[in-house]
Amino acid sequence: MLQRKSLLPVVNPDKAGNPLKHPAAKAPRIFADSAIRSEIEPLYRAGIINGITTNPTLLKKAGANSWDHAKGIMRDLCTLLRPFPVSLELTELNEEDMVKQATELAELGDNSVIKVPVGGYRAVNPSADPYTGLKVIRRLWERGIKVNTTLVFNTTQALWAANAGAAYVSPFLGRLADYAYKHDKPERPHGNSLYWVEDHKNSKGDQVVANTEYVASGGSIKDAGARLIFEIATVFANYQITTEILAASIRNPVQLTECLLAGADILTVPAAILQTVADHPLSDDGMKSFVEDSKAFGK
Ligand code: E4P
Repeated sequence: MLQRKSLLPVVNPDKAGNPLKHPAAKAPRIFADSAIRSEIEPLYRAGIINGITTNPTLLKKAGANSWDHAKGIMRDLCTLLRPFPVSLELTELNEEDMVKQATELAELGDNSVIKVPVGGYRAVNPSADPYTGLKVIRRLWERGIKVNTTLVFNTTQALWAANAGAAYVSPFLGRLADYAYKHDKPERPHGNSLYWVEDHKNSKGDQVVANTEYVASGGSIKDAGARLIFEIATVFANYQITTEILAASIRNPVQLTECLLAGADILTVPAAILQTVADHPLSDDGMKSFVEDSKAFGK
């Protein structure tokens, strides 16, 4: 993993994007998962984030009510964050329209990154080509347009996206955890639960959703998100793949640590969570007593 890390163009840059002589120059980058300028700007000005990710849901939350309005928001965010990357998601669903829309979005800023769903096309149109996303990624790579592959839930999706030429893959840790907490059953036995996975009435669904070798051989599906990132990081390291692993769909600060231990290159984090990362109840208590005791000697 360390060798792969040394190949990545990941540095802690100054505001102009130049490498800094910095103790954490190869630290994971932190992006805000938001399209709301008032949330993003203070984080950006404070040097907390150096990129953002958006999607149609986040644009809707930011108030977008027409395609032109959405494009206006995306253009404004690209300008604000320049030169740091801003992921903009395609909404078209067939290959030609997607490539055309990607070109349109790429023109919103030279720091734009086009977000392409890896799969799910047949869920919205049963006659769709299941390889639509991978074909679009390849075509955008050929045109020199950077892609962030979204809706990644297993290691093979990540590998295929990298093979197609994606600059980033976004495994959705939080949605896997959401699924696990909803479906994991307390009666689940320990040991070699491959049998359990095969026998249990929910097994097929669980195995397909939390499709990791770890879960298939008995690991808890509650750990499936972190395990997914670990698997992708290991596979990418094994084959020296420099596609960056952008851990997405984060629900709480504990998951941030899980992603880092598992080998994520970038974390995209909701603003509400970023606002709490410097907090801890014992930090609060400690500060109160230091401030109180400093009164004994003035400043
Ligand atoms: C990532 O790029 C996605 O926009 C995001 O993390 C999805 O998160 P959600 O599961 O909270 O919608």
